[in-house]
Amino acid sequence: MTAPAKTTEFHATPRVEKGTIEPNPINLSEDAVHALVPELDAHLASLFVMFHQYQKHHWLVEGPSFMEIHEQLEAYYDEVHEDLDAIAERMTALGGIPTSAPMEQAMLAYISHEPEGIFSMRDMLKRDRFYEGLIAERLRATITVAQQHEDYGTSHLLEEVLEHCEERAHHLDHYLGEDTLYKE
Ligand SMILES: [Fe+2]
Repeated sequence: MTAPAKTTEFHATPRVEKGTIEPNPINLSEDAVHALVPELDAHLASLFVMFHQYQKHHWLVEGPSFMEIHEQLEAYYDEVHEDLDAIAERMTALGGIPTSAPMEQAMLAYISHEPEGIFSMRDMLKRDRFYEGLIAERLRATITVAQQHEDYGTSHLLEEVLEHCEERAHHLDHYLGEDTLYKE
């Protein structure tokens, strides 16, 4: 499918080019920001994928636990959005430019959007749990890089993001548990 032609275009030149890392006011070394800005951008992009995924699953949830899961998934996409916003703002403190366009983010993310269509509720939640696990692994790796560069601010922020991610994965795991009170 080809994208429809846009009827309006606004032409302007960026004041600061994509990929630029400007000097930071918090005295982090150039090595630190060059190591961390791309990693933060990949987390930002991947959390946006997670945000869209939870929103989709919030829309499509069905079944006897509809309302509870519908509301829980809304709480998840709200939490993910707050966290990705904090990561983008940290990138600007480090002198970086957060990738903002959804198509660019999708290319940069280390997880993929679920294909369109409705999957079973179990498969949708299984995918969410799987991705949360991957995000947790990547966050831990970046926390290590931040600490190696004495960027404790980024480390602290990502530790909070990691805790949220681990808690979501843990709760999804419980939703997916096999035990039941229904009579066999
Ligand atoms: Fe809603």
